[in-house]
Amino acid sequence: MLLRILGTAAGGGLPQWNCACPGCAGARRHPSRRRLHDGLAVHGTKTDAWFLANATPDVAEQLESHVDLRPGAGCDRTPVVRVVLTDAELDHTLGLLRLREAARIDVWCTAPVHKALTTRLSLTDVLSPYTRLTWHDLPLTDAGPPAQVAGLEVSAVPLSDKRPRYAADEPAHPAWSTALKVRDPRTGTSALYAPALAHWSDLFGAEIAQSDCALLDGTFFDEGEPRRTGISQRTASEMGHLPIAGPQGTAERLRRLEAKIYYTHLNNTNPLVDPGAPQHERLGCLGLRVAEERMVVSL
Ligand code: MLT
Ligand code: MN
Ligand code: ZN
Repeated sequence: MLLRILGTAAGGGLPQWNCACPGCAGARRHPSRRRLHDGLAVHGTKTDAWFLANATPDVAEQLESHVDLRPGAGCDRTPVVRVVLTDAELDHTLGLLRLREAARIDVWCTAPVHKALTTRLSLTDVLSPYTRLTWHDLPLTDAGPPAQVAGLEVSAVPLSDKRPRYAADEPAHPAWSTALKVRDPRTGTSALYAPALAHWSDLFGAEIAQSDCALLDGTFFDEGEPRRTGISQRTASEMGHLPIAGPQGTAERLRRLEAKIYYTHLNNTNPLVDPGAPQHERLGCLGLRVAEERMVVSL
């Protein structure tokens, strides 16, 4: 399978339109530092078919920026778009509205995500006059067979009950926020995608130990970053994102793994948005790195 990285930034992107923090200012000075909202396109090896893992507010530009995702000359306008969602966050779902020119949109998501998108954001009501929107159940890894999407097996590892702010009053459910597990039945290789890792569970630890590649929550470098930079009174973990460094951090756990690991969903406060930051060397020593815009990973 092929993983095409469409973007690597947390909500707001880099630069964020209303922000002049050092990360955003640096990205305005050096356009190569710009990052779009995190998302992927995933292809099976022997098929032209692909699906999107999350649909970001940047989705149209993201599809355009990968030549192989553009419609071919003489062929129909992309007839079907397949989207698998990790959660119901706005930075991962607003792109569904931008995909409305498709003849048909097929979306896979968990039950609480479906409820939030249809009852709180009214996506079925809003999109139905434009396209044929079809919802599919995204199975949990430990509950029955995976979904078959574009020739790949896809399921969700439940991560936490982190709800989007617009649905904060909805009941708790373990599959509000998930990691996508994608397995290629032809090669047996598998990948995990977890842009919001609030807790490290045994289940998640077991899944990542079996994966060939993982794209993981790199929102904040350390636990105190949101407070120190003034974006929140809460810590990184309290915001639903385990930090990279420190005793709570993911780097210590990830360094022992065989899988290719890339951090994604970087917030504009994360020092790693500066390619010259010394934190890159610290990660490199642990065999870890940051996902780059438009990178392609072949598994
Ligand atoms: C998150 O990753 O925690 C959310 O996307 C935050 C947001 O965009 O409001
Ligand atoms: Mn986010
Ligand atoms: Zn900023």
